[in-house]
Amino acid sequence: MGFDVAAAREAFPILQRQVNGKPLIYLDSAASAQKPRAVIDAMRSAMESSYANVHRGLHTLANETTDAYEAARRSVASFIGAAEGEIVFTKGATEGINLVAAGLGARLQPGDEILLTEMEHHANIVPWHFLRERLGVVLRFVPVTDQGELDLAAYQDLLGPRTRLVAFTHMSNVLGTVNPAQRLTEMAHAAGALVLVDGCQAVVHQPVDVRELGADFYVFSGHKLYGPTGIGVLYGRAAALADLPPYQGGGEMIAQVSLEAITYADPPHRFEAGTPPILEAIGLGAAIEWLKGFDRQAIAEHEQRLYARTLEGLAGANWLKVIGEAPGKGAILSFLVDGAHAHDVAQILDRYGVAVRAGAHCAEPLMKRFGVTSSARASFGLYNTEAEADAFVEALTKTQAFFA
Ligand code: ALA
Repeated sequence: MGFDVAAAREAFPILQRQVNGKPLIYLDSAASAQKPRAVIDAMRSAMESSYANVHRGLHTLANETTDAYEAARRSVASFIGAAEGEIVFTKGATEGINLVAAGLGARLQPGDEILLTEMEHHANIVPWHFLRERLGVVLRFVPVTDQGELDLAAYQDLLGPRTRLVAFTHMSNVLGTVNPAQRLTEMAHAAGALVLVDGCQAVVHQPVDVRELGADFYVFSGHKLYGPTGIGVLYGRAAALADLPPYQGGGEMIAQVSLEAITYADPPHRFEAGTPPILEAIGLGAAIEWLKGFDRQAIAEHEQRLYARTLEGLAGANWLKVIGEAPGKGAILSFLVDGAHAHDVAQILDRYGVAVRAGAHCAEPLMKRFGVTSSARASFGLYNTEAEADAFVEALTKTQAFFA
């Protein structure tokens, strides 16, 4: 079917704007992606013509909004090959991981082990540190090679009889490395551990089928997937979700409440206490339905071309150091410019209208692994063009000249 980037760009009103007198070149989609009109319209339309609280009302607007909210759940489920009841709406991927950590924590013993990797971002490190601090759970980390891949031999060695859970990113937000998620999951299961996969980046750039993957939990956020902020998804295999105790208490997650006792609703509602992010779920549903209109493989190839073209444009730049060179990696370029702080690089690029992220990318242990405190990062989205990749190379070359 191919991918028409010019047509796709038309859907994003923000791409018309200028920054510092230059056309915006947005290369920060790994932090948060821009929103297509389909998302903006769906959220506006819900507020303008059919809005009420969900699951509580008997009136028309409540029923319509409940239908729209549950339709969004179905969109998510079919997008990743899950059943509807396996999709929990959260306020983000971070909340999804905290939810699982809190639930598993109730069953862990001191000395039980959780296996993470050195390439996780803080959302997939800090909730597990809570369990270390509170319960005496031991955290172990799979090392990362110089190219930016997981050391699979070390992974195998680290899996042991006390490993209760393995949690790893499907695609690194810094290195762009795509981890062999299915294989890692099989190895963890063979060791008797549960598996949580952080899909924040991967789900944006490649088709994901949670059944094929086989993981017990898969989390991602809406705002990187061209949807709104304030909404995330926790997929849990039906039996794994059914096994988890509730995370927060309140309305919506109960079956019955009396002064003496409570009983809980079944998943997914057991994990959606209080009024959920209704408009945000509707917005995420719209983003996914919009994405389903494209050949996702063609988008992935388009993004790969942009990445390859950028690297080609920068070939021979002896002032550039790229962090993360794993084969088959995604379109995320983390880099250092000789003699320049990453923050200064990002600020000068902004003068040319180019938006990149700079800092530790919420992944301090990984930065330490590569012996740096920060890097700049250009991350591509489906709306970026080859002309933008070239303009980025030109702007970066000019930026470097400030420090030469
Ligand atoms: N984890 C997000 C990023 O990579 C915020 O920028």
